[in-house]
Amino acid sequence: MSVGLDIGSKTIKIVELVSEKGRFRLRASGVVSHKGARPEQFKDDKEFAFLGDVVKKLYKEAKISSREVGIALPEALVFTRSVKFPTLTDEEIASAVRWEAEQYIPIPVEDAIVQHQIIERREDTTPPHVSVLLVAAPKALVEKYAKVVDAAGLSLVSVETELIALVRSLALDDATVMIVDFGAGSTDIAIARNGQLAFSRSIPTAGEAFTRAVSQTLGIEVSQAEEYKKTYGLSQSQLEGKVKKALDPIFRLVSDEMKKAIHFYQTEEKGEVPKSVILSGGSAGMPEVASALTKLLGMEVVVGNPFSKVEVDPEAVKSLAGYAPFYSIAVGLAMRQT
Ligand SMILES: Nc1ncnc2c1ncn2[C@@H]1O[C@H](COP(=O)(O)OP(=O)(O)OP(=O)(O)O)[C@@H](O)[C@H]1O
Ligand SMILES: [Mg+2]
Repeated sequence: MSVGLDIGSKTIKIVELVSEKGRFRLRASGVVSHKGARPEQFKDDKEFAFLGDVVKKLYKEAKISSREVGIALPEALVFTRSVKFPTLTDEEIASAVRWEAEQYIPIPVEDAIVQHQIIERREDTTPPHVSVLLVAAPKALVEKYAKVVDAAGLSLVSVETELIALVRSLALDDATVMIVDFGAGSTDIAIARNGQLAFSRSIPTAGEAFTRAVSQTLGIEVSQAEEYKKTYGLSQSQLEGKVKKALDPIFRLVSDEMKKAIHFYQTEEKGEVPKSVILSGGSAGMPEVASALTKLLGMEVVVGNPFSKVEVDPEAVKSLAGYAPFYSIAVGLAMRQT
C-alpha cells in the first residue's frame, strides 16, 4: 500500500495504490480545493495547522488507509540538471556527486538536499559518458512541506520533485515524449526519454494567469472568468471565440516555452524531438487545449491518462471521469513506494 500526496497551490490530491503481482491497482483517491497559501510562504504555525487540517479531512474523506505518504516539491523551487560524467562506477558517481555538488548547484550545499539518478550509460559516444540527473532542494523548503504532513497527522516517507513523479505515471518506456503539467500557478515542462526525466523547466504561467487574462480582456469578475475559461476554453465556436481570443496571447507564451524546451533539448542535449506531448494538471481540462496546442506546435498532443499503468475498478472509473488529469503527480508518487 502506498500513498502519494500532491500539495498544489490551489488543490490537494491524494492517491493510494496497492501493488499486486507487479501491477498497481487504485485503492482510493481524492481531490480538494483549498484557500491556503503555499507552504513555502508559511511563517507561523497556524498556517501549517490550517493546511494540515485540509489534508487530514481529505485523507479521511478519500478513505485512505496507510499513514505513510510520499510528497512532491514544486518544480519551480527545486533545481534539476543533467550532468555528464566519465564512465565511472555507480559508487564513484555517488561520491563524485557528494564531493562536487557545489560545482553544479546554485545553492550552498550545506543548505541543500542533493539526490541523483543515473539516466543512461553511453559507450557509443566519444568519449563514452554517463548522464546523471542531479536534484537539489533547499532544506528549509523540505522542512516546510514536512511540517504540513506532520500537522495532518501523517508520516512522510519520501520526497521527490513534481516532474520525477509525473514522468513515472505518464512517460512511455520506449520513446521520447514531452510531459506538461498545467497547474494553477505554474506550468511544468518535462522531456522524458525511455521513461527517464531528461529535461525540466517551470514557468509561472498557468490556470490563474488564464483566468486573469479572461477577466481583464472581457472586463468581467474573476469568478465568472474562471467559469468561462472552464466552459468555453479555447473553443473558436463558443461565445464567438471571445474567450479564446482573450486566452490566445498567454497561451501562445506557454506554447513558445514548450518549443524552446524542445529546441534546447535537441541542440544542447543532442536529444531527439519528442514523439508527442502529454498533458496533465487541472488546466489540461480546458476545452480544446490539446487541439489548440497541436496547431501551435505541429505535434501530436494528448491529455494523459495517469491511470494507464494502474488497474482501476469500473465503478471508480466513473467517479474519476473528468478529474483524471489532476491525479498524475499523486499517482506517480504512489507508484514509487510499493
Ligand atoms: N475544466 C477546466 N478548464 C480549464 N481550467 C481548469 C479546468 N478545471 C480546472 N482548471 C484549472 O486548473 C487549475 C488547478 O489545477 P491543479 O489542481 O493542477 O493546480 P495546482 O496543482 O493546485 O497548482 P500548481 O501545481 O500550479 O501549484 C486551476 O487554475 C483551475 O482554474
Ligand atoms: Mg500542481
